[in-house]
Amino acid sequence: MFSAPSFTDLSILVRPGLVLDWSLLKIGLIAFLLYHLASAIYFVRFHPLSRHPGPKLAAASNIPYLRAQIQGRLPQWIKEQHDRFGSDVVRIRPGGLSFIGDTAWKDMFTQRYGSKQFKKDSLIYGKAPDGVDSVLTANDADHARMRGLIAHAFSEKALKSQEPIIQSYVDLLINGLKMEADRTPGGRVDMVKWLSWVTFDIMGDLSMGKTFHSLTDQEFHPWVSFMSGMFKTIVFVATLRQLKIPRLLMPLFLPKDLYFKRMSHLRSVSEHVDQRIAENPDRPDFLSYILKHNDEKGMTIPELKANASLFIGAGSFSTATVLCGAIFYLSKTPSALQAATEEVRKSFPNKKAISVDRVARLTYLSAVIKESHRMYPAALAGSPHLVPDEGAIISGRWVPGGTGVMINQWAANQSTLNFTLPNQFVPERWLGDPRFKDDRIDAFQPYSVGPRNCIGKKFGPPSSLEP
Ligand code: HEM
Repeated sequence: MFSAPSFTDLSILVRPGLVLDWSLLKIGLIAFLLYHLASAIYFVRFHPLSRHPGPKLAAASNIPYLRAQIQGRLPQWIKEQHDRFGSDVVRIRPGGLSFIGDTAWKDMFTQRYGSKQFKKDSLIYGKAPDGVDSVLTANDADHARMRGLIAHAFSEKALKSQEPIIQSYVDLLINGLKMEADRTPGGRVDMVKWLSWVTFDIMGDLSMGKTFHSLTDQEFHPWVSFMSGMFKTIVFVATLRQLKIPRLLMPLFLPKDLYFKRMSHLRSVSEHVDQRIAENPDRPDFLSYILKHNDEKGMTIPELKANASLFIGAGSFSTATVLCGAIFYLSKTPSALQAATEEVRKSFPNKKAISVDRVARLTYLSAVIKESHRMYPAALAGSPHLVPDEGAIISGRWVPGGTGVMINQWAANQSTLNFTLPNQFVPERWLGDPRFKDDRIDAFQPYSVGPRNCIGKKFGPPSSLEP
C-alpha cells in the first residue's frame, strides 16, 4: 500500500517501489562540495599559474569568465582586471591567462617552440555543425593548404580586379546618402545602417556572387540578421563547450531563434555557393580565384562553403564596425574631421580620381583609420590559444604547456600600460606627435600577426600606416 514519504526517516520515495536513501544523497552532496572546495584551493594556492595576479574567484572557478562572456562584456571585464592589478598579465580563468604587453603578439603567434606553434583553443574556435573546418579553425596542415589557395583571391592583383565591384557599391552608398540627407530634417542619416549595408553588399558579392541589395532596397536583408544570430551562437556554443555540454545536446540549450538563424545562414551559403559554381560566371570575385587554382590538392565543396561563410561574416561585420567607429569619433572630434576633409578635398580634383591605391596614400586619413581600429577594435574574441607542451616564454614570463592564453584587443588598446591618453581619439599619435613617443605601438595589432593573421587586411579600411 502506497503512503506519503516521510522525510524524518532519512529516506525519500522517488516513485512507488523505488526508495532512495537520503543519507546517500547527503554523502554525495558533501563529497561534491568537498571536491570543488579542494580543487578551488588547489587552483588558487598550488597551481603553476597561482603566481600570476588576478581575482581569486577567477583563479578558483570559470564562473566569472563565463559570466562576462555570456553577458557580452568579456573585453570590458578583462580590461578591468588588468587595470585593477596594474599588470600586463592577469589570470582570468583557473587554466588561463590574459596578456596585453607589446611582445605578447610575437611570442604567441610568430614563434615555434620545439617544432610546435601555439594551437587555437577550442574554447572559441569550433567547427561548423556539419563538422567541416574553414581556414580559421583548420589544423596547421589543412590551414597551409587552404590559405595557399585562398591567397590568390586576396593578392594585390585580385584586389585591383575587384575594385570596380567595390566602387560600384561605394557609388550606390554615396548617392543613397545624398538622397536621404536631402529629405531628412537637418540632413541627419543613420550611418550605422548605411555602413552595414555597403559592407554586407560588397562581401556578399565578392564571397558568393550574391548581392543583398541592401543599398538599393534601403533595408537590411534577413540574411544579415541570420549572420548576427550566428555570431551570438558562437559565444553560446563556446560557453556550453566550457561547461562540458556534449556537442549533440547543444541545440537543446541554445535559444531557439539563434539556432534557427545559424542554420539558415549556413543553408543560404550552401545554396548560393552551389549556384555560383554551377553558373561559373567570369567575374573577379573570391571564388573565381580559388576555383581557378583548385586542383586535387585543393579544397572540397564543403570546405569552399565553410570558407565562403567565413569571408562574408569576417569581412562584413569587422569592416562595418571600424568604419562606424571612424565616423563616430570624427563627428566628436572637429579638428580631426577638418584635417581629414581638407586632405581629401586637396587630393582629388573630382570623384573619378578616387581609387583604392590613392586613398591608401592619404596620410591623415590613414591615421584616422588606424586610431579608429585602436579605439573601436572589431576582433574582440581575444584569439584564445593553447601553449605547446614544451611551455613558452610570453612577455618575459615562463608559461607551462597546456595553459590557455589570449590577447584581448580592447584591453590592450585601452591600457595606460601601452598608450598615453588611451581613451582619447587622437590620430596625431600615429604621425609623430611627441606626446605619444612612449606608446608601445606593437601592442596594437588589429589584424593579428604571423601565418594565421587576417588574410583580408587589404580589404579592411585602407591605411598606408601598417600596424
Ligand atoms: C576591419 C577589418 C578587419 C579586421 C579588424 C580583421 C581582423 C582579423 C583578425 C584579428 C584575424 C585573426 C583571427 C584569429 O586569430 O582568431 C582575422 C582573420 C581572418 N580574416 Fe579578417 N579582419 C578584417 C577584415 C577582413 C576582411 C574584409 C576579410 C575578407 C573577406 C577577412 C577575412 C579573414 C579570414 C579569412 C581570416 C582567417 C585567416 C586565417 O586563419 O588564416 N577579414 N581577421
